[in-house]
Formats: sequence, structure tokens, C-alpha cells
Amino acid sequence: MYSSLIKPFLFTLPAETAHDLSMETAHLAPWLGGILGNENDLKLKTQVGKLSWSAPWGLAAGLDKNAQAIPFFSKLGFGALECGTITLDEQLGNAKPRMFRLPEEQSLRNSMGFPSRGLVKIENGFHTRTHKVPVGANIGKLKESSPLRSIIELKKIKNTLEDKADYFVINVSSPNTPGLRHLQDRGYLSELFKELRPFHKDIYLKIAPDLNEGQLKELYDVSCEFNLTGLIATNTTMMPEKGSGGVSGELLKSRAYDIYSKLLEWKGDDKFEIIAVGGINSWADVLKLWRAGGKSFQVYTAFIYQGPELLKNFQKQTLHMLEQTELNNLQTFFNLNKVQRQSIIKQWTQKHTL
Ligand SMILES: Cc1cc2nc3c(=O)[nH]c(=O)nc-3n(C[C@H](O)[C@H](O)[C@H](O)COP(=O)(O)O)c2cc1C
Repeated sequence: MYSSLIKPFLFTLPAETAHDLSMETAHLAPWLGGILGNENDLKLKTQVGKLSWSAPWGLAAGLDKNAQAIPFFSKLGFGALECGTITLDEQLGNAKPRMFRLPEEQSLRNSMGFPSRGLVKIENGFHTRTHKVPVGANIGKLKESSPLRSIIELKKIKNTLEDKADYFVINVSSPNTPGLRHLQDRGYLSELFKELRPFHKDIYLKIAPDLNEGQLKELYDVSCEFNLTGLIATNTTMMPEKGSGGVSGELLKSRAYDIYSKLLEWKGDDKFEIIAVGGINSWADVLKLWRAGGKSFQVYTAFIYQGPELLKNFQKQTLHMLEQTELNNLQTFFNLNKVQRQSIIKQWTQKHTL
């Protein structure tokens, strides 16, 4: 239904109009989620940090910025949802138009700049969550705030949502808030983490793909040092040749993969979580991530182009793989070591053309 009816209609509208209309519909008719998609089979449960996701694929931040449609997305087949980026006060974001489709490249470009209804209006949305599908709060600073002020803002948001959100993500990696990416720095992050402690819930740092290896290692080290649950890699990338803002989807895929596969290599068998995001749009991409030692991941752009079919495909293929390899459930697969997992994927891919 999405590919034949909904998408052709939505794609006649400007991207942000289509987004707003979809979110309003999802808010008013949450039951539509169960018609368009399927809740996850219990065999797909995956432990991510302290939480049990209903499947290893989550909704990336930015689609449900104001926690308006949690019941809709929970029924659709996402294993976890991330709402936000949430700012302390309401702000409008950058001037429109600020969201563009790049259909030939199965990509999007946006320069939203954290439009947010503000914490007070958003916090109630978290009451609608069901505990089957964990819901995270992605939090960020207001456009005009100094680094010092931003620490106070992030602390207030975290404290207010402490009992409402299942996990937290600190977003210092959007390219659309001036100076934000400069906060991907050991000095600032150490101060921030000290202020935000203790961490009762899972907490992640979301990072950019436009980092060199030294910068990446610094972020990895400081996050491990402060016992964060993990990193979410990556946010959108800057491609000035495509216009201002951040690019997501197919065009981001190889940059994001380079970043999260490097992190997975450093992490080895440690408990530290790496949630992959950036251009994941097919079952082949999922297998590539799992072969590299990854587990959980998020999608945004591929969901815009493929809709709930994307999730149904992940469900179908994963259950098929479990059945063919005689594994009882997906967690058993993730509990194996990397070499054993690679051998199972090899065995499975040899039997199936992707
Ligand atoms: C229109 C749009 C808005 C976004 N807004 C946010 C945001 O508010 N906070 C955030 O952390 N990431 C945001 N993102 C980034 C996504 O969460 C994700 O990291 C990125 O798009 C890469 O994944 P993808 O290739 O699957 O889209 C946004 C992405 C898009 C396309």
C-alpha cells in the first residue's frame, strides 16, 4: 500500500509538507501502524545496552521530533524509537525550504536546525509508549546557547525525562546548528558527562561521519571513559556539491560504514554498544553490518523511500535466516562470537542470492 498509494501521493508534495501531514495522520490514527506494518516476532528480541529492543532495527531521530506518533511507530515494526532532537525551549529551526528529496540517489538533504516544540510540550508524548518497544530521547542545545549554557539545558531535559524516556542520546553532530559539531571535543564532553551523571538509563553520544580517525578515536575513548552505553554513528554528512545542510541515505552509506565499522573493530567483544545508522537500505546492508561485528541499527531515509515494506523485509529475511541456520532466536545469534556469526552469515548467503 505504501509504494503503490501513499508514497506516490506524498511525493507530489514538498518534502516537509509530506512529513508534517504524515506525522499528523500517524498521531491521529495510531492504529494505522498495525495495518501498514507488523509488530515484531518474539524471536527478534535483541538486547541493546540495558534494554530489550523488539528487533535490532530502530527508527532514527528526526522523523518523530516531537514524540507525537509513538503508538503508530511501535505497531509498525520498529524495534525501538528515537524521538527528537528535543530542545529545552520551543524553536522554529532554519528558514524553509529545508528538506529535499534526491530520488535518483535514494537520499535526502536537510537543513532543519532542530525545529522543536520544546520540552514542556513534548514530554507528555512519552506517556504513550508501550514497554515492548523502547523509546529514546535525542536531546540537543538551542541554536543561540553557548557551550556552558548548553550543559545546563541538556541536564534539565535529561532530568525531566529521566522517568519517561527509556534511553538518551546527546546530539552534537547535526551540521545545521552553527558551532554544534565543535562540541564533539574531549574537553566539552568531559564537562557535560560529569554534569549529566549518574547514568541510570542507557546513554549514547551521536556522532558525525565527517571526522578523521584521530577525532573518532578521541570520541570513542571519552565515551568509554565515562561509561556511556555507546555511540550512535552516524548523523548526516556534509556534501557542499549537493547544497547546504546534511545528506542522508545512499549517498551517506559508505562514509557511515567506514565510521561504524572502525568503531566495531576498536570495540571488539566489549559490551560498549555501537548503533549503526546511515544509508542502511537493504538486507544486504544488514548482513554487511552483522559481518563487521555490528548488531543494532537505525533507519530514516530508506523508510521514506520504502516505507513499512523495509521493516517487513528485515523481519522476513531475519526469520528465514534463523530458520535455515537452526537458531532459536536472534539473541542466540548475537551471543555467538564474531567468527561464528560470520560463518553463519556465509553459510546462509551461499544458499541465497541477495
Ligand atoms: C529530515 C531529517 C531530519 C533529521 N533530524 C535529526 C535530528 O533532529 N536529530 C538527529 O540526531 N538526527 C537527525 N537526522 C539524522 C538521522 O537520524 C540519521 O542519523 C541520518 O539521516 C542517517 O540515516 P539514514 O541514512 O538512514 O537517513 C535527520 C535526518 C533527516 C533526513
